Amino acid sequence: MDLSTSMRTHMCGSLDSSDIGSVVTVCGWVDRRREHGEHLVFIDLRDHSGVVQCVVDGSHDLRSEYVVQLTGEVRRRPTDTANPDLATGEIEIEVSEVEVLSIAEPPPFPLDERTEVDETIRLRHRYVDLRKARMQRNLRIRSQVNSAIRRGMESQGFVEVETPMLMASSPEGARDFVVPSRKEPGSFYALPQSPQLYKQLCMVGGVDRYYQIARCLRDEDLRADRQFEFMQLDAEASFVGQEDVFGFISHAIAEATEVVTGVRPTDFPRISWLDAMERYGSDKPDVRFGMELVELTPVFARTEARVFQAPCVKGICMPGGVDALSRNQIDALVETCQRWGAKGLAWMKVVERDSSVVLDAGVAKFLTAEESTAVISALGAGVGDMVFLVADDRRLVRHVLGLLRLELGRPPVNEGGLHYLWVVDFPLFEGFADDGSPLPAHHPFTMPHPDDLELLEIGGDALADVRSQAYDLVLNGWELGSGSVRIHRRDIQNQIFTCLGIEPAEAQRKFGFLLDAFGYGAPPHAGFAFGIDRLVALLAGEANIREVIAFPKTQSGADPLTNAPSPIDSAHLTELGLRVPR
Ligand code: AMO
Ligand code: AMP
Repeated sequence: MDLSTSMRTHMCGSLDSSDIGSVVTVCGWVDRRREHGEHLVFIDLRDHSGVVQCVVDGSHDLRSEYVVQLTGEVRRRPTDTANPDLATGEIEIEVSEVEVLSIAEPPPFPLDERTEVDETIRLRHRYVDLRKARMQRNLRIRSQVNSAIRRGMESQGFVEVETPMLMASSPEGARDFVVPSRKEPGSFYALPQSPQLYKQLCMVGGVDRYYQIARCLRDEDLRADRQFEFMQLDAEASFVGQEDVFGFISHAIAEATEVVTGVRPTDFPRISWLDAMERYGSDKPDVRFGMELVELTPVFARTEARVFQAPCVKGICMPGGVDALSRNQIDALVETCQRWGAKGLAWMKVVERDSSVVLDAGVAKFLTAEESTAVISALGAGVGDMVFLVADDRRLVRHVLGLLRLELGRPPVNEGGLHYLWVVDFPLFEGFADDGSPLPAHHPFTMPHPDDLELLEIGGDALADVRSQAYDLVLNGWELGSGSVRIHRRDIQNQIFTCLGIEPAEAQRKFGFLLDAFGYGAPPHAGFAFGIDRLVALLAGEANIREVIAFPKTQSGADPLTNAPSPIDSAHLTELGLRVPR
């Protein structure tokens, strides 16, 4: 694209040997300055497209990060000074005119890609940090992803509808950020945790296919994949089922992936939630590597070994683990598993003895020859591998081995390709609240699986087995997004509220407007939302979403640049009807 303006003819990074002989004008920041003899300096001039070497008369005072406009003739560099690592490495500009547009303080940290800079300092001076090639690249990837998603949704007939930021509470299970009302002291708006309720109202309103690139806010503890505010591709459609939603979303994801990587993903395999839990010990399996959890309960059904007398025994095999792990590391793994809740971690080496493959060391001595053979064969273990077993109740075994698998085998974020995976048939409920009522695994508007409606009637323990029509999209072990077929009938919705222990009065107070809307003719509908920050991070090969957000908060939720959050003055508080304890 031609980015020339009234002030520049070319971008720094766009110049090459085809420009030799032309007189050009470039603008940008002084990246590096090297003295060359008495009267000449080499300036690397930088804009977002790259850097170009400029030869300038030494009389000009051009310091690091000064903003300048340089005009001169492009010429070939002497062969021995050419830089093959640089796009512009064959040429340089012999500068004839220098205009300093802005002088600059010395930068607060070096702008090269090698120096590790404390994140608070980077965020305090984010405007300088953003000049780095990495950040420029990430911001541009993000912009491409946003427009690819828009194209992908619009080409399927989705209409972007903007929903309010000031609303009543939305039920995504996190804490709300609230905004005090000046007109009604003591009352508060909630900022949207997602546009969930509004998009369902759009369906009642006949929009048919809604989407929005939506800002969502949740007051929860921040992590590498979590910010207070984040962006979703949020979508909902009428007269559709789960398969239709998979089609819409896979298309948008494929567009976004292709625009960044150049390769269009065609494979969106599926796994049931139960399979994912049994084989990977996680509802967001990272399938870039094997080391699956293997069922060993039958092997130990009648075992004499106390350690393995448990309702469930599973194991994983680490290829080459014997050489890869020291005794100290193994001991540390045992402790880690105990921190995760296991009673212990049984480990054994797979070795060759008298020309047969056997288990050795660790708890091997407690096993019979038959048990050893069965473990080796079930795990597909070979000489030099290390095997790890956990015995306990099923949930705990899955949890601990799922984490251990990641600890031992997970590749770095930018390795192993992109593996999308739909996880289907989530349970409707997930655990129980203090008052004994079940908690919704997704949100309370999710349609139960049609085959499990009877279990819903039975209630009690049977609720644990009720499946839902909820699904997640997972990428390389990250939960990218979630969605479900929604309840569009008031009677089923009320039945679910009752199950969840939400009294009719409470349901009416919180979601009355939605229930009322359903009374006026609601189409069957289903939808989905995925996190754009997470998608962009993984496409950019970044392990933390803060690297793909222009102005993120720190892990503790602060913005070191603007000093948010900050106190407000007492007059403002009074006007809002608020009093802050001192
Ligand atoms: P859910 O709560 O699963 O579903 O959110 C969907 C996706 O949004 C992203 N996400 C986040 N990203 C960054 N920081 C956060 N704090 C954060 N929280 C969530 C994740 C997540 O998978 N309304 C439903 C969707 C639906 O049912 O249609 C919802 O919001 O990538
Ligand atoms: P103990 O008999 O408790 O000393 O344990 C012997 C070995 O078995 C130790 O390496 C423990 O870490 C391991 N171990 C103990 N309990 C379990 C368990 N429930 N599952 C797997 N390994 C265990």
